[in-house]
Amino acid sequence: MSAFDVGALRDLLGPQGVLSAASDLERYLVDERRLYQGQAAAVLRPASTQALSSAMAWCYAHDVAMVPQGGNTGYCGGATPDESGRQIVISLERMRRIRRLDAGAFALTVEAGATLASVQAAARDADLLFPLSMGSEGSAQIGGALSTNAGGLAVLRYGTARDLALGLEVVLPDGRVWDGLRALRKDNTGYDLKHCFIGAEGTLGVITAAVLKLFPAQIQRATAWLAVDDLAAACGVLAGLRRRLGDCMTSFEYVSGPSLALVLEQVPDTHAPPVNAAAHVLVEVAAGAGDGLRDSFEQALCALVSEGLVLEAVLAQNDAQRRAFWRLRETIPAAEKQLGGSIKHDVSVQLDRLPALERDARCAVLARVPAARLSVYGHVGDGNLHFNVLAPAGSDPTLFKAAHAEAVSALVHAAASRLDGSFSAEHGVGKLKRELLRDTEGPVAIDLMWALKRAFDPRGLMNPGKVLLP
Ligand code: MLT
Ligand code: ZN
Repeated sequence: MSAFDVGALRDLLGPQGVLSAASDLERYLVDERRLYQGQAAAVLRPASTQALSSAMAWCYAHDVAMVPQGGNTGYCGGATPDESGRQIVISLERMRRIRRLDAGAFALTVEAGATLASVQAAARDADLLFPLSMGSEGSAQIGGALSTNAGGLAVLRYGTARDLALGLEVVLPDGRVWDGLRALRKDNTGYDLKHCFIGAEGTLGVITAAVLKLFPAQIQRATAWLAVDDLAAACGVLAGLRRRLGDCMTSFEYVSGPSLALVLEQVPDTHAPPVNAAAHVLVEVAAGAGDGLRDSFEQALCALVSEGLVLEAVLAQNDAQRRAFWRLRETIPAAEKQLGGSIKHDVSVQLDRLPALERDARCAVLARVPAARLSVYGHVGDGNLHFNVLAPAGSDPTLFKAAHAEAVSALVHAAASRLDGSFSAEHGVGKLKRELLRDTEGPVAIDLMWALKRAFDPRGLMNPGKVLLP
């Protein structure tokens, strides 16, 4: 039984626009990591911005809290309703049209429910590139990616979701529509409103469409799997490649030996790379037309082998080998999940402090739980590590997490904080990290965030309880 009569919403959105049967709601009520199980009075699935605007105006007038949800692939519980059963979830899964593609402006206007993979495909069809890419791209939606300022695997070259947005269309909590859908590369007319909504995790309004940046297609591309001694060596390789190759590196991903071992053990159809080492790097370079990228890449790698920073390097010989390399990196989270999950961290520091972060976090965690297994991997090119801690082999992962998650996370976050780093480089805050935000950002930042929240959402109806602790 719904907490209120959803008939009025059905009148506004049509029969397909409102789900309220328990079996239909189920998949919207639990987050990807199964950390939170909520309830909802209904799920709204508008087919247009105007329809959503009317429905949100109704919710605003009736004091109904709204929880926007994209592909539900987030890690911090930012899109799960609370347990009251009085909130409504807003899904834009029926709004997934490419509204226009302006090849000459290198811009694409898309509705927020489109998946990242479908936007990549639309760009590809026009011989262009939309570079936001991550393991979950088949289900993650543009609206969610912008709302969490998602990062992924090519931030090094193209930036995060924030850097890829030229314009937005947003429905405000009271139903008003802000039309900021412009493809301008330069626009200094007052406050840049789009940046308020990007990364706000749906606490200020619902992003319904975006103008996204496109890039020239990557005509030349080369991918290599490198063996290195450790993270410090990996950072040296990053600097060495940058100096030699300039800005053509698109990804520089670190995979520690234990993370690779988890993948090989847990994920079907994965094969050990042809190099054996304590640590690994997956590096990809790309460029437009012209030639010589592969040769310069090879020469740069040879130089780094001579310097002893790279122990061994294998260049992918074809697309199948490239995909096999990427599979070893992208399936690390799945391998951890298979083992009952890990105590996950998403920390970042300025690049030259990354080895210190890893060393400090490792020492602190192992001093407390000597038998814990560490799976350390991530976007070293962005100064971002996933420093994940798994239960000792043979012990129960659920009991392990219940016993140690709080203390272990405090140690990892303290290590990042001592180095002036971030506790959430790319996964956001959601419900999971609200206390951390409150305790680490300082009173001025928190005051300003609350001021923004109250200005955009005076009644506190937009994804309440997320990001900012009430
Ligand atoms: C990744 O880098 O693979 C993603 O951020 C997911 C994760 O860390 O689990
Ligand atoms: Zn990541």
